[in-house]
Parts: sequence; C-alpha cells; structure tokens
Amino acid sequence: MAMQIRIERTTAPKAKPADASKLGFGQVFTDHMFVMDYVDGIGWTDPRIVPYGPFSLDPATSVLHYGQAIFEGLKAYRTPDGGVQLFRPHANMARIQTSNDRMVIPRIDENFCVEAIKALVDVERDWVPSAPGTSLYIRPFIFSTDAFLGVRASKTYRFVVILSPSGPYYPKGLDPVAIYVEQDYVRAVRGGTGAAKTPGNYASSLKSQTEAYKQGFVQVLWLDGIERRYVEEVGAMNVFFLFGDELVTPALEGSILPGITRASVLELARGWGMKAVERRLAIDEVAERYDRGELTEVFGAGTAAVISPVGTLVWGEKRMTIHENRIGPVSQRLYDTLTGIQYGTRPDPYGWIEKV
Ligand code: PLP
Ligand code: COI
Repeated sequence: MAMQIRIERTTAPKAKPADASKLGFGQVFTDHMFVMDYVDGIGWTDPRIVPYGPFSLDPATSVLHYGQAIFEGLKAYRTPDGGVQLFRPHANMARIQTSNDRMVIPRIDENFCVEAIKALVDVERDWVPSAPGTSLYIRPFIFSTDAFLGVRASKTYRFVVILSPSGPYYPKGLDPVAIYVEQDYVRAVRGGTGAAKTPGNYASSLKSQTEAYKQGFVQVLWLDGIERRYVEEVGAMNVFFLFGDELVTPALEGSILPGITRASVLELARGWGMKAVERRLAIDEVAERYDRGELTEVFGAGTAAVISPVGTLVWGEKRMTIHENRIGPVSQRLYDTLTGIQYGTRPDPYGWIEKV
C-alpha cells in the first residue's frame, strides 16, 4: 500500500529571487522540504512535506563521525507553455539503490521516491524559474542518524529532499574551462566508493580542487588510483574525448560514478551514427593523439553543468589547447539537444521526460 504524504505548509513564505537571470548554483532554497525516516523494525516511515528549516542533531549522530550517507542531484525544468518537467528521475532513484547498497543504507522504494519528488516540486511549482539556463535543482539525500560512536552501520536514517532554484553551475556557462591532470591525489579506486554518490568522495576531492583553483584551473582530471595512467572523471563530472569521429569515455569499472548525463550522451551519439565507445583511455594516448592533431574535443558531462567543454588540458609539462579554446560542434550539438529535451523545446524520442 502506498504511503500517504502528509503536507504541512509554511506560514512564512520567503520572497522569491528578484532576478532569476542572476541566480547562481545551490544558494537559494525553497519554502518546503520532503522528509522521511527509517526506523529499525518499521522501515521507511512518516513521509512528510514540511517547512524548510534546520535539523537538530545529537552530537554523536553517526553521519557526523563516519559519513554514512548518500545524495542525488536532478533538476525540474520550466517548459515554454509554463509546465514543469523532470529529466530521467527514475534513473536517479535507481542510482540511490546502488549508492545505498554500497553504504549499507536500507533500500528505498524508487517509485515512491519519484512520487515524493513530484509532490514536493508540485507544492513548490512557483519556485521553478523560467529565465534561460535556470532550473530548480533537486537534492535528495540520506544520512545515518543513530547517536552512537561505535563503528557499524546505523539502524536509523533520514531521507530528505531540498530544492534550489539555480542558474549555471559554472558562472561562465559554456565557456571552455582549464583543467590539469591530477598526479598527486586520486578520487577513487576500484573496490572503494567511487561508483556511489557518497559525501566522502567529494570531501576527499577538495584538496586537489583547492590546489587547482590556486593555480588558475577550474577542476582536475582524475586518473585511476592504481596505475595512475587511465582517465576517470573531470571534477565531479564524467569525461568524454573526441578523436576524429570516435567519441570515447572511460568504461565503468567500479571507480567512476555512472552518470545519467553520460548515459544520455552515449545514447544520443550512437543514435546519430557516431562511434561512441566505453573503454580504458590512457593519458599518454590522449597526449599522443593530441600531437597527431586527432583530439578535437574534450568535455565534462553532468546534471549541474550538462556539457562543460575543456579548453585547456595540462599534463605535467605538457599543455594541450583543445579546439582553439572554443566549444566544439559535437559538444554544442549535445548541449543543445540535451537542454532542448530537458526544457521541452525539442521532441523527446527516448522517453526521458516526466511531467510534474
Ligand atoms: N561524476 C560525479 C563524481 C558526480 O558527482 C556527478 C554528478 O552527479 C556525475 C559524474 C554526473 O552524473 P549525472 O550525469 O548523473 O549528474
Ligand atoms: C553534477 O550534477 O554534475 C554534479 O557533480 C553535482 C555536484 C554539485 C555534486
């Protein structure tokens, strides 16, 4: 039997952003949030939409010490006719299950989660911005709540969804970014947690991100943690390399997050008759093919930035300038097609869209 979602509306609604075209990413939050708890012996219980606000946590709360948590990220888009729609929400909820399994968090009903997100977005419908390039970023997350300092899986959890009207992830939008190849630190190893969307992966990446900023780069390109040779991800996005007509992205071998944008890019490119392959890609192959003039485009792919072209790629002493530091035609076509489907300005032949 489906659980009923209780709704408690705020009595003090906030002012909406005055100029949505100036929205940054993840800075403003809406009036309500979805909350549901996991109680040992009962399961997931008491789903509710309540006024947005802080939680009070026991200082011994397990997540604060041992980081047993997962999160997701997707968006609601305003269509030209004033409607609101989601992009592949069931794929995000399926990924919650694999993240949960890795972090020993109890499974959750995927369909109910999509219903919960739709119910929350419906309550907050007026918060979905309509300025070009803006959307309502949806952040579901789960954290362990036992107040206990022993290292073991928690017996209680909280599932929460918050919403943030957002603009572009990178302030410069589609302008190509400068990236260097990280040679000191690694993001994940096979057997670790890289394929799960869990906070520790992001915490451990901050050191390199901070170093990269200091040196004038926007992000780093991660190499595999064992041979320190094979390309994995770019910042918190999946990465693609175009060599002539071959589009390459690293194969999912356990240390890479299986991105929904990544899967969509592969499907679109294959649908266009391109050779789109998932395989191991060594950084020395990238450099050699760059020297031969075969590396024509490099881009990151993820929900927040959609497609993020890489204009400069630095590997030690070697500096590669890609497509004259301008967005390339394949990156642009992918961006236009994905955002066209997401915002409902293009047909959706793949059935990726769900209306709210
Ligand atoms: N890789 C990492 C580490 C991420 O955090 C994300 C963002 O969710 C992605 C890749 C891209 O995944 P998606 O396209 O599902 O947003
Ligand atoms: C993405 O959507 O591509 C992300 O990596 C989200 C980020 C804010 C964690």
